[in-house]
Amino acid sequence: MGSHAAGRSAARRADHVGAGDAALCGDDRAFGPTRLAGGRRAGCRVSWVYGLIPHLKALHVGMLVLWCGGLFALPLMLARHEPAIGQGDYERIRRATHYAYTFCVTPAAVLAIASGTALIFLREAFVTWMFAKLVFVALLVSFHVWVGYVLVAVAERAGAHRAPQPVLPLLLLLLPVLGILALVLAKPELGEIPVPGWLTEPMGRQLPFDVPRR
Ligand code: HEM
Repeated sequence: MGSHAAGRSAARRADHVGAGDAALCGDDRAFGPTRLAGGRRAGCRVSWVYGLIPHLKALHVGMLVLWCGGLFALPLMLARHEPAIGQGDYERIRRATHYAYTFCVTPAAVLAIASGTALIFLREAFVTWMFAKLVFVALLVSFHVWVGYVLVAVAERAGAHRAPQPVLPLLLLLLPVLGILALVLAKPELGEIPVPGWLTEPMGRQLPFDVPRR
């Protein structure tokens, strides 16, 4: 994604992203709302933090391309762990798979999740489609863990282990990836998540400890 596009997307404060009653900071409309804990306006907050948004988004998209690309490639590589391919080729594919998982795909996953988490707060994306996206992200993380498990089982555990055929896992992987992309690009209005009333209304009870007043 070009930084222009990223910047435009970050700067255009979509209705469905962020609190609707956000107070803007002078002309720094591009940077988002400014609030203090007590609900008071904070004046102009550190605008350079909001300037990070396009860069974080570029990092996020770059890392998730690496992450998802790796998750598609690794089951195919694992399926090549065939004793019949000969010792030299086996060693090569084994090393490539291990290094790809350890030094590329896993760090990319960590960075994609870390940058996405930062973006949630900077973009104030506390909206239903984002929570639905996180459910799909959890499936992606589970797939990542499963690939790691197969990697260890196939080549580091005693006994004969065979990697599963890649077709079914790859079809299953498509589900969260397409789900996430559909949610994040369409940003649909999904309505409120139903929560019990006692979680949304003050109950007028005392906390069991003193809260310092400002
Ligand atoms: C824990 C993991 C993740 C978190 C917390 C997260 C969070 C976010 C946030 C807050 C944004 C900014 C939304 C906006 O500004 O409108 C974003 C953008 C994006 N995310 Fe994620 N994300 C995560 C993982 C993923 C994954 C796994 C994918 C793809 C498979 C993905 C695809 C995208 C795309 C394509 C964008 C750019 C959307 C746009 O600018 O319109 N994200 N993400």
